[in-house]
Amino acid sequence: MRENPRLHWHFGVRLLHWLTVVALAAQIAIAFGPMRGPGMAAMNWLPLHMSIGVTLLAIVVLRLCWRIRTQAPARHASRVVRLATAFFHVFLYVTILAVLITGWLGYRPMPFMPPARLFGYWPFPLAPSVGTLSARGFAFVHAKLVWILLGLAGAHILAALAHVVLLRDGVMQSMVFGQPNTTSRQANGLASVDDEDG
Ligand code: HEM
Ligand code: HEM
Repeated sequence: MRENPRLHWHFGVRLLHWLTVVALAAQIAIAFGPMRGPGMAAMNWLPLHMSIGVTLLAIVVLRLCWRIRTQAPARHASRVVRLATAFFHVFLYVTILAVLITGWLGYRPMPFMPPARLFGYWPFPLAPSVGTLSARGFAFVHAKLVWILLGLAGAHILAALAHVVLLRDGVMQSMVFGQPNTTSRQANGLASVDDEDG
């Protein structure tokens, strides 16, 4: 069945949104789990951490390109709410990009470590030195920015839950796969738009 683009985010945007969630969850699990282990644990896990991070960077950049070329689903929210939501989403994008870029700037394998390769295969360039901050300094900023990202993602998830449980306005359905249900379409005032489309 064809999905109505006025009710759903574009398929590519949805797919890349949920791939971001999976990759980010894996990254957080590694960074706060085995990477914090004793001895050389951080060094041993860093190549995988870097590989997942670079994959995430590719997903986010692709998603941004796709996002810029597609329209958001139609909403009956006020202009202020739409502006606030757009601002928050831009802030999320900027923060995740800042985490990824500072991670790259902070990544300097020790001389005894294997050269940087994605998932052990594809050579990946190390970042050049930028400004006066050392790689250690960037790694420090990187780890701090992760907390801001986690705070924003937490607020974003709470907002998504509020849309499902309290508002029931179809916002969550617009980001998942499958048909939106009629109740939320009506709550959104969009069922008639859908019907007119045929
Ligand atoms: C959204 C993606 C990422 C998240 C959520 C993330 C998360 C983290 C966290 C929480 C830490 C601190 C770990 C600790 O406290 O011991 C950390 C450290 C680090 N991350 Fe990431 N990271 C990401 C992407 C990257 C990328 C793309 C790179 C490199 C290309 C990278 C390189 C590093 C480095 C070098 C450290 C310092 C490790 C050390 O203490 O020696 N990260 N990361
Ligand atoms: C379980 C976790 C998550 C849920 C349930 C969720 C849910 C949603 C929903 C329902 C929307 C549509 C909002 C609207 O149409 O106004 C959305 C959009 C969005 N989400 Fe999430 N999200 C989750 C995790 C994340 C994470 C981890 C990120 C990034 C760090 C993220 C970034 C975004 C962005 C930037 C948008 C705007 C659409 C776009 O430009 O791609 N989300 N999310």
